[in-house]
Amino acid sequence: MSDELTRLKSETEAALAAVSDLKAWDAVRVSVLGRNGSLTALLKGLGALDPVSRRERGAALNRLRDELTQAIEARRVALEAAELDARLAAERLDPSLPPLPSPSGLIHPISRAAEEIAALFGAMGFRIAEGPDIEDDWRNFGALNIPAHHSAREDMDTFYLAAGADGRRPVLRTHTSPVQVRTMLSAPPPIRVIVPGRTYRADHDATHSPMFHQCEGLAIDRGLTLGHLKGCLIDFLRAYFGIGDLPVRFRSSYFPFTEPSMEVDIGWNRKTGELGRGGDWLEILGSGMVHPKVLANCGIDPREWQGFAFGMGIERVAMLKNGIPDLRPFYESDLRWLRHYGTSALLPTMLHEVGA
Ligand code: DAH
Repeated sequence: MSDELTRLKSETEAALAAVSDLKAWDAVRVSVLGRNGSLTALLKGLGALDPVSRRERGAALNRLRDELTQAIEARRVALEAAELDARLAAERLDPSLPPLPSPSGLIHPISRAAEEIAALFGAMGFRIAEGPDIEDDWRNFGALNIPAHHSAREDMDTFYLAAGADGRRPVLRTHTSPVQVRTMLSAPPPIRVIVPGRTYRADHDATHSPMFHQCEGLAIDRGLTLGHLKGCLIDFLRAYFGIGDLPVRFRSSYFPFTEPSMEVDIGWNRKTGELGRGGDWLEILGSGMVHPKVLANCGIDPREWQGFAFGMGIERVAMLKNGIPDLRPFYESDLRWLRHYGTSALLPTMLHEVGA
């Protein structure tokens, strides 16, 4: 290699070694390989040489170009890696740092109640299942054995959306029960799920909101009985309200999707609102043994599998547990209310003792 080429090589290598960021690196690259770069100029000069020298010098220049291209590329890779390392070091997260107690960040009572419900049923082997807020008629009603003439289907109660291509109107789900259908259709039993989520009905007053929250429960297994349903719900209610001897009453009722169906009441004092004593009864959730037709609609053989289901209003249990008198402020984002009824984000969800 001629002195000129050797010098170009060592100068370029020195310049590459000196750059510390990609901008400076690019300037070096352009100064050598760019349109007006030093190596490009040498290559352009080849044309003026006689054929013999041109061949020789051309070969040397091509080699040099390969070497420099490689060196320049290697420097880019090294610079990028160094930049990434620097960023990773600067943005390092220290998970051992305790969180700062924040006086303004609080958990909303609905979220808190849903977390507590999930923790308690989680301890009993239930997992959380979810479904969309917009449902089709079949999952919200039909598969659940709710007949065509049932009042819940009337526009008065249900928010309908514009009809799709099939002429059917999707609905804002009126309960979390369609997720029972989704769960049964998605995997074979045994099943144990709870479904906390938003639900919608055309209703608005001090105790009803057009959007509210429910938590559904579904257990499917061989040989499940009413006894399992009762034990499960009694354990849950006593643990959730933190009252070990909370009176619980099962009252025969009717739901299209369960047979037999039961309303569940807890003991309280109607005058003072105190739970657990007082001789009055307060309805708290609906439940029952999953109707054989519902199992069959969802592809489960009712001769082999039995199940129980239940549904409760999350706002309702949160109001009772925390002595919240009115439903409306739940959705008003009034900070005074939230500061009063919210829970510190740092307080872990307590896993109460389930059962005696
Ligand atoms: N879906 C009912 C409602 O919204 C609540 C309910 C009752 C759910 C009984 C159930 C059940 O799963 O078994 O009023």
